[in-house]
Amino acid sequence: MKRIAVLTGGGDAPGMNAAVRSVVRTGIYMGLEVMGIEKAYLGMMEDLIIPLSLKDVGGIMQKGGTMLQTTRCEEFITDEGQEQAVQNLKKHGIEGLVVIGGDGSLTGARDLHNRGIKVIGVPGTIDNDLWGTDMCIGVDTALNTIIYCVDNIKDTASSHERAFIIEVMGRESGYLALMAAIATGAEEVYIPEKEMDIQATATKIQEGHKRGKTHGIIILAEGAGNAYTIGRQLKNILGYEVRISILGHIQRGGSPSAFDRQLGSMMGAEAVKALMGGKSGFMVALSGARYSLIPLEEAISKKKTINQRQYEMAQVLSL
Ligand code: F6P
Repeated sequence: MKRIAVLTGGGDAPGMNAAVRSVVRTGIYMGLEVMGIEKAYLGMMEDLIIPLSLKDVGGIMQKGGTMLQTTRCEEFITDEGQEQAVQNLKKHGIEGLVVIGGDGSLTGARDLHNRGIKVIGVPGTIDNDLWGTDMCIGVDTALNTIIYCVDNIKDTASSHERAFIIEVMGRESGYLALMAAIATGAEEVYIPEKEMDIQATATKIQEGHKRGKTHGIIILAEGAGNAYTIGRQLKNILGYEVRISILGHIQRGGSPSAFDRQLGSMMGAEAVKALMGGKSGFMVALSGARYSLIPLEEAISKKKTINQRQYEMAQVLSL
């Protein structure tokens, strides 16, 4: 193998730059040429493919976002789109590919593997919803941003004796919401994986209030329900206003944490080593303190579940 390429796809995640830097520097160290594909699969189809040198990836690790930019590309799902992309890879003599992204991007990676391209995936999504890996790049930074915001909101909530619903990202996964609830001591957490009981939440907030609690913080994963509808229902039971705060894309930006820089660096290097070892169709995974390769097919098709013990603990600690 002489030349490989790297792309970042789907929602950006802090730490992706560390992974790109690691792919480039590990690749060059191992005697490869490394190309960058800008704007993910769109760039692969439109031939936005550039050489990357050691210097090109200098000074990017501490930056949020991705230097290669990213897209969610509908056209790539079609046969023609994928064929066009494969032609462009061949035109540039690209023999191996590292795809950094979430389930959509890794589904594209699986498709390219099935078309004969050697591909290794790296899990990069703040949702942490990929099966087979404990952590994805970006999760730790997003969580730290969330707890910073929730702590601030708690200050004002306590001052006014208010209840707040704070919506965090996670269309299909409650991981961020649950971890944020544990780390901020929220009174309630609503996640797509669990039934929501608004009456029980109201009772918990009222009882806490009687014991001297001055706030009621509810962390809502975006996929679990509409913040405004839940807020209205809660207000009807509590008899006072419930404020809503939707954190939105602030969660995805910002300088990556030490953990995400380290994770991106390790996973990028593992991906290049896997390609050099002739592997394809795998995702780099972190399990405990160990890095391994799991089949892309499993990573995208199996459903990661919420840790029941952590969910129960969040309930106990929220009293
Ligand atoms: O996949 C990551 C994610 O941040 C989800 O949590 C969120 O639902 C989605 O991306 C938002 O996507 P977009 O930036 O395209 O609005």
